[in-house]
Amino acid sequence: MNTDQIGKPANRVDGYAKVTGQAKYAAEFNAPDLAYGFVVNSAIAKGKIKSIDTSKALALDGVLEVFTHENRPGYIWGDKNYQDEDSPPGSPFRPLYQNEIQFSMQPIALVVADSFELARYAAMLLEVEYETAAFETDFEANIEKAYEPEEYKSTPPPDPRGNPEKAFREAEFKVETEYAHPSEHHNPMEMHASTAVWEGEGKLTVYDKIQGVENSQNYLGKAFGLNKENVRVISPFVGGAFGSGLRPQYQLFLAVLAALELKRSVRVVLTRQQMFSFGHRPKTMQRFAVGAASDGKLEAIQQDVFAETSRFEDYSEDVTIWPGVLYQCDNVQVSHKLVGLDVYTPLDMRAPGGTTGIYAMECTMDELAYKIGMDPLEFRLKNYAEEDQSKGKPFSSKELKECYRQGAEKFGWEKRNPAPRSMREGRNLIGWGMAHGAWEAQQKEVSVKAVLTPDGKLTVGTATADIGTGTYTVMTQIAAETMGMPLEDVTFNLGDTSLPKSPLEGGSWTVSSVGSAVKEVCDKVKQTLFELAKQADNQTFGNATLEDVTFSNGRISLKNDTTKAVAFTTALKQNGGKPIVEELTTKPADKQEKYASYAHSATFVEVKVDEDLGTIKVTRVVSAIAGGRIVNPKTARSQILGGMVWGIGAALQEKTVMDNNLGRFMNHDLDKYHVPVNADIHESEVIFVEEKDDIVNPLGVKGLGEIGIVSVAPAIVNAVFHATGKRVRELPITLDKLL
Ligand code: MOS
Repeated sequence: MNTDQIGKPANRVDGYAKVTGQAKYAAEFNAPDLAYGFVVNSAIAKGKIKSIDTSKALALDGVLEVFTHENRPGYIWGDKNYQDEDSPPGSPFRPLYQNEIQFSMQPIALVVADSFELARYAAMLLEVEYETAAFETDFEANIEKAYEPEEYKSTPPPDPRGNPEKAFREAEFKVETEYAHPSEHHNPMEMHASTAVWEGEGKLTVYDKIQGVENSQNYLGKAFGLNKENVRVISPFVGGAFGSGLRPQYQLFLAVLAALELKRSVRVVLTRQQMFSFGHRPKTMQRFAVGAASDGKLEAIQQDVFAETSRFEDYSEDVTIWPGVLYQCDNVQVSHKLVGLDVYTPLDMRAPGGTTGIYAMECTMDELAYKIGMDPLEFRLKNYAEEDQSKGKPFSSKELKECYRQGAEKFGWEKRNPAPRSMREGRNLIGWGMAHGAWEAQQKEVSVKAVLTPDGKLTVGTATADIGTGTYTVMTQIAAETMGMPLEDVTFNLGDTSLPKSPLEGGSWTVSSVGSAVKEVCDKVKQTLFELAKQADNQTFGNATLEDVTFSNGRISLKNDTTKAVAFTTALKQNGGKPIVEELTTKPADKQEKYASYAHSATFVEVKVDEDLGTIKVTRVVSAIAGGRIVNPKTARSQILGGMVWGIGAALQEKTVMDNNLGRFMNHDLDKYHVPVNADIHESEVIFVEEKDDIVNPLGVKGLGEIGIVSVAPAIVNAVFHATGKRVRELPITLDKLL
């Protein structure tokens, strides 16, 4: 493979469409005679709907229908227990299925009208009578009732190793902690939306906000008994999702229900407030007990996780795998219990489980390092994991030491005075903290199709998504590099169920999974093209094999004599005016099974804390990332910067507040749910360390979607301790916790 495209900071191929507004999102597709739906949500957290009076709404001119559990058609939800691609074990919530209320803000009706404004107004005229029932939303009060689920959605807690209790008892230095992480909500810029376009005769084209169109298509198939031929789902652009778009949401169901019943195109868009009515990062409480020998060697790690879930699904995420991945230790025991509450099921949110688990672990390890009197970085080097002990497998590659080295150097870590409250600048206490992190590099099965037309242009497509991460761009680069073509001659298509199958875009697996498929299908196109080139110029290429030639700039030439070349277009003439079409499916190679693959990070942070006011400013963040081969340093850096910003938000600002009297998240808007703004972000440095990995996948990439966030918040917590001498064990660190 030459290196014409991979590794170059190419601009986004869809950048122009995005900034000029040509890129269309789910709520921006129009259809003749489009109707608008507005969702009505439950005012209570648990109980029953006694009655819904829709007469005042229906009396308005232009209101077309009000859908509720009372008039919903009987044919829906034939398969009630259908689980989508990201469902936890359990029984998924089914909108309008019955009069039972399972959580606050549950959708209970859809008002459909000629205009959005009318639908919204009419929605206010509904009169709903409830019969309320007792509910529990208080996480802390229910921790005692926590249970182990029969089945974990995530990796089940790894088996215990050694004798952690004894090792802890006998350890020279020990720390016992309890770290809390609040519920958080995804806040993508684009609200969830679906436009269901009625094509006649029971056929629909649905524009949906989703991280994988097939998940929506399959869901609609089960909910409405629709054949795949009758429902095409399209999602060319997604305005951020972070996991909120992994599962089909209720606006999709409601838009399609209305379209099928009214035989008319219908759009449903959620409001920002309604974005807080489904799915969130679960609240967790984690207990750690860690012990080390006098030389700083870890002797024991115990981790007990308590995490929120709903009554109807057992949501879990990878909170307990990190001790085995990031620390070498012979005595380890972890547990993961769920606290069932009357809330909507939690939902994967950027680095699900890593964000919570690595946070609590890394703050605890910082506490232990202080107890030993050891530099936190030295402590991590001393206990460097040589293999993934949970899986008992070696790493396919791991350049974490290089992350430490380059990150520490860039940050100036060696100038740190280890004593808390020892560094100062005017009225500000200065704190330096660090943490490391990991995220699994996975590869999923992907099908892909490539078409090279006689004009020498290549189109590659699969049903994957681009949730803003840069899928369009990096896939175009991978195809162009593999083929030896300029970027302009390559088009990559995604987000359409008429394309070959792809998994959800999530878990940081898109570049490795889709990228590997793109590379392989292009390799196949090259083979066919080479055969045609031989026919076109038998004298030059007659005896040559693929190894003897290079593909570059739209031409095939002999490696040892580049003056002899055949243009792709010339070779294609041998194909009788037909394009070259190749389609295939890729999956992980067998050899990958023997290894554990993770991206790694080391983050160094400086905070300045106003001693009198308790305000915290994160003045510097340096994150060094080992993420395998970097396809596009520009989009890659953006991914990591996003993770850093979010880490700052998680550490200092974000929290969804549950009112246990109402059973409702109260700060359901961006004026009360705080996220960082530009003024909160200062120096941010991203370093990609070189990491070669021939095992993880054919491209040697690891994925960067989630590794950017995991070590940021704990590094900030640790820096705040260094600045103030105060250990805050509950996020976010608001100023009241420091005073
Ligand atoms: Mo991500 S939480 O896997 O979309």
